[in-house]
Amino acid sequence: MKSAPRSVTGATAGVSRQCIAIIDYGSQYTQLIARRVRESRVYCEIFPHDVTRAQLDAEGVVGLILSGGPSSVYDEGAPGIAADLLDGRLPVLGVCYGMHLMTHVLGGEVVAEGRREYGPAVVEITDHSGLFEGLGAEERAWMSHGDSVRTLPPGFHPIATTSRLVAAMSDGRNRYAVQFHPEVMHTPRGAEVLRNFLYRVCGCTGDWTSAAFVEEAVAELRATIGDRHALCALSGGVDSAVAAALVSRAIGDRLTCVFIDTGMLRKDEGKQVIATFGPRLRLVAVDASERFLGKLEGVTDPERKRMIIGEEFVRCFEEEATRSSAFGAVDLLVQGTIYPDVIESRSKDSKTSARIKTHHNVGGLPEIMSLAVVEPLRRLFKDEVRRVGAELGIPEDILWRHPFPGPGLAVRVIGAIDRASLDTLREADAIFLEELRAADLYRQVAQAFAVLTPVRSVGVMGDFRTYGSLVALRAVTTEDFMTADWARLPHELLERVSARIVNEVPAVNRVVYDITSKPPGTIEWE
Ligand code: XMP
Repeated sequence: MKSAPRSVTGATAGVSRQCIAIIDYGSQYTQLIARRVRESRVYCEIFPHDVTRAQLDAEGVVGLILSGGPSSVYDEGAPGIAADLLDGRLPVLGVCYGMHLMTHVLGGEVVAEGRREYGPAVVEITDHSGLFEGLGAEERAWMSHGDSVRTLPPGFHPIATTSRLVAAMSDGRNRYAVQFHPEVMHTPRGAEVLRNFLYRVCGCTGDWTSAAFVEEAVAELRATIGDRHALCALSGGVDSAVAAALVSRAIGDRLTCVFIDTGMLRKDEGKQVIATFGPRLRLVAVDASERFLGKLEGVTDPERKRMIIGEEFVRCFEEEATRSSAFGAVDLLVQGTIYPDVIESRSKDSKTSARIKTHHNVGGLPEIMSLAVVEPLRRLFKDEVRRVGAELGIPEDILWRHPFPGPGLAVRVIGAIDRASLDTLREADAIFLEELRAADLYRQVAQAFAVLTPVRSVGVMGDFRTYGSLVALRAVTTEDFMTADWARLPHELLERVSARIVNEVPAVNRVVYDITSKPPGTIEWE
């Protein structure tokens, strides 16, 4: 699944480093396999099932993992595999559908039992060499399948079983397959199974480290950018910060970063970005709050807010780009696209999926400015981006900052926006985050913030009646932001935050906690 439409450099699909190819058969866990492999310090990429041997050779592939997937090998048009990928020259690990496919292609028999097995199982390991080295006689494993293997392909023997089926098989050399999912947490020793495959079977050396990435990425960026100039919209978020720092290390002053204060940032965010990056990057900071707030006056519809901000952002960025003569020769735009964005945009079917909200980012920039895009992080997962950022010396509080939507606080002040309401929200939000950090819970939630609602309620403070605003607190746990659960924050913490907000933020007299998961809610309120 490699495609890089207008990207002039994609982040170092390194030729010198060992690569594991994960062949994607549509499992919801494919990305998870990739993350587990990377966590084992081995580089990997996800490929479509019609990838060829020559393509994999060009990437320095030393082993294959065939993912699971929803198909049955007997389905019409079921995804297959090039025969020369299973001929034993490359080590292979088939997972679930990958196991069925290997069995089917190599001459064994797969059967549809008619009843699915979904959930935990106990697996009896009968051969501890190779894949299962170091594991016990019995291990817990997570199953999720309909078909199963009845007859092994010639040359294969079972290496683990359950009371019902062959749970794993091997050819005694370098071809393995497992019916269960080693990549999920419910297979407690699954990471060891994968590590055994990588290190014992494929002979990986663990050469995927952030230091190695930085060194290679910098060399590649220098080679591809040459003496051209690049521009980067720095938002203060992790991804654009790390992308900018990396490109700046490669080309120094030929990278100019533009930081636009839309007036909808969190408390002290602008100051922090300027203090952090001002001394180390060529940074142009623009206070554009006046024009953004002007355009948004009286606007209440969330989608209109997003559209206005998106358009204004592009206009503002373009103006800054042309204003400075140093930008005369700019022909590249640096973006902080990361691997999950790349995977998701490939699989997104915009015709069939309903639009919940239009996520505005700086996506409109390259088309409008007709610049080619440099995406040095397009092969990295978020945790890897953070490690690379740490390697580049970016402070922890920037690296671990929760994601912040492109339209900023505009979608957290519900309804019409003005400076006063933004200031109120900023204060309430800062108190919430300060207390969350003090309780050492900031990193345990994926996102936490305050929302200012247009609801006004009656309260009493001292001997006086109050009539003030309602602030909602939102905190969620999630891996991928597609689904999320509300965070079970301690009541004492919520009590402290509520008391402080009501006492310290004059316009607010009531605080509520949002206990809606996603779905049916979304993470943001607008
Ligand atoms: P929702 O609200 O859709 O949010 O559940 C999922 C994640 O996306 C973020 N988000 C945005 N990010 N532009 C962005 O760059 C946007 O317009 C936008 N809207 C939501 C949200 O903060 C959460 O992390």
